[in-house]
Amino acid sequence: MRPPIASIALTAMIALPFSAQAQFAKVEDAVKYRQSALSVMGTHMGRVGAVVKGERPYDKAAVEADVAVIETMSKLPWSAFVPGSDLPNSKAKPAIWKEQDKFKAGAEKMQQEVAKLSTAAKSGDLNAVKSAFGGVGQACKACHDDYRNK
Ligand code: HEC
Repeated sequence: MRPPIASIALTAMIALPFSAQAQFAKVEDAVKYRQSALSVMGTHMGRVGAVVKGERPYDKAAVEADVAVIETMSKLPWSAFVPGSDLPNSKAKPAIWKEQDKFKAGAEKMQQEVAKLSTAAKSGDLNAVKSAFGGVGQACKACHDDYRNK
């Protein structure tokens, strides 16, 4: 009989597919995974953006919920930029794999800006949300300019 510790370890591995150890069966799966996470992140950025632009009324709880999704999603795409996954249906530029440190720094910068947005969302101060949202948007754009095809 297997010692119980082995099955606990196995369960932990299955429960944590998003760790840096994430493995994808096919490169196509990695592309789909990162595009999905980025797409959900973009949707919730759009919702907060509508509030920032005054197109939707400011509701503290709703913005906090949107930012919580953005924060979670902001951690997911990066382990899915596996080598060899600049497939035709991907907009990832090959430079990502030549400048991995710079790409990673761009992801970390964005996560720092999202953390500030989270603090602002919890404060309930719309002006703080607006200013932090601008910082996040710049971090998205900086990486897209360098590493995403049009
Ligand atoms: C470190 C680089 C980087 C940062 C930071 C970044 N992105 Fe991207 N994003 C990419 C790359 C590369 C792609 C193309 C992925 C692909 O097609 O394989 C992409 C694609 C997307 C897509 C298209 C997903 C789809 O449906 O295929 C959206 C939406 C998006 N990003 C939103 C955002 C938002 C919003 C932010 C900021 C909160 C952000 N991204 C920050 C690199 C980045």
